[in-house]
Amino acid sequence: MQRLVIDGNTKISGELKVHGAKNSALPLLAATILGKTPSVLHNCPRLSDVFAACRILSYLGCKCVRENDSVIVDTANLTHFEVPDQLMREMRSSIVFLGAILGRLGRCRLSFPGGCELGPRPIDMHISALRQMGVSIKEEYGYLDCSIPKELKGTAISLSFPSVGTTENIMLAAVLANGETQIRNAAREPEIIDLANFLNACGAKIYGQGESTIYIEGVKEIGGCEYNVMPDRIVAATYIGAAAITNSEICLKNVKAKDLESVLPVFEEMGCSIYSYSDKIYVNALRPLNCVKTIRTMPYPGFPTDVQAIAMAALCKARGTSVIVENIFENRFKHAGELVRMGANIKVEGKVAIVEGIQKFYGAQVEATDLRGGAALVLAGLSAEGQTTISNIKHIDRGYERIEDNLNLVGAKIKRV
Ligand code: EPZ
Repeated sequence: MQRLVIDGNTKISGELKVHGAKNSALPLLAATILGKTPSVLHNCPRLSDVFAACRILSYLGCKCVRENDSVIVDTANLTHFEVPDQLMREMRSSIVFLGAILGRLGRCRLSFPGGCELGPRPIDMHISALRQMGVSIKEEYGYLDCSIPKELKGTAISLSFPSVGTTENIMLAAVLANGETQIRNAAREPEIIDLANFLNACGAKIYGQGESTIYIEGVKEIGGCEYNVMPDRIVAATYIGAAAITNSEICLKNVKAKDLESVLPVFEEMGCSIYSYSDKIYVNALRPLNCVKTIRTMPYPGFPTDVQAIAMAALCKARGTSVIVENIFENRFKHAGELVRMGANIKVEGKVAIVEGIQKFYGAQVEATDLRGGAALVLAGLSAEGQTTISNIKHIDRGYERIEDNLNLVGAKIKRV
């Protein structure tokens, strides 16, 4: 079992390149299924979740090869419509393949995606939306058996919650459906815009992405295209957190400040000076951090739930008391207990966490509880007095490309053992 060993009390400085976005690459890889001709995704991150998605594509009969930072997908021999249990279990978000396989093949059989560390991860909204489009879905023996008895038809679907995955699944199923689909109260995340831009470049007709209502006009078929995956805004926020927690200054490269419009003000409230221009963000966090009155995680464009653990780690070092309210997932404070083992002063009451600032973290043996919680522990380890060992780092590798290599480039002292 691999672990990260971090010698603390480090300052970081220099330039960090942000890799392509995991939460865009995954739906984009699923979207390639809809195209009759090959697609090339550039700036595709080397992450275990991306490898898992490529394995699913290969299992379905596609040719999926990586060439440096690009992944090429050829769906000419796409024959299978079933995703077996062990592949579904590897990556919870593989539910996004459902809409694409149905759109292209009209049939799909996949096992219920396992829960994950953030809670049960229900898919009731995915199922209800696809049924409204004419999909028959039988849930039995842990499998979803989906078919289209008559036709996949466009329709108006109102979401009770702007679910990212549900919005993506509907978009993917609607591209080749008959007629127009409207998604009301759609997710507005930048990854949704990236997916729509990719599909339109392949020949789809999608409008309104990034707003609350998305229109998809069904077309007969689409091809593939060459596309650059957007930068990972959560990895960028993680690096900003690393500068904040170590009172350092760094420059981020290959990042879109617009995607962080609700994150940057929070770090500025902590006392960081942040300048952004073209595809760079410069962070000066040399002053001691101040607490932040309240952070509430919300759907985009609100403060992202994926940055909650990162902000919590930085706020542990801030003077005063901060309040964090997690509104998106019901079980996303598990990293708090591990931060407390490092000396943090955090009280969790349901979806509210109260963070009292401390002088410093102490190195300890801790365990990554989930992807972003694990990243938060890395940040705390950078700043801690002494050495920190983090186990269960497979969670971190799902969303961060060799996190230790990138941070060591700017002065961190992290070893993977
Ligand atoms: C996506 O998950 C991201 N994953 C998550 O990132 C991110 O935290 C989340 O969006 C919110 O921004 C990918 O893009 C691969 P949702 P997703 O559907 O699509 C409930 C990370 O760290 N819900 O918007 O699963 C659900 O339980 C990961 O990179 C239902 O109840 O998020 C959750 O409480 C973690 N029924 C809330 O909605 C449904 O049918 C948000 O879920 C679907 C969702």
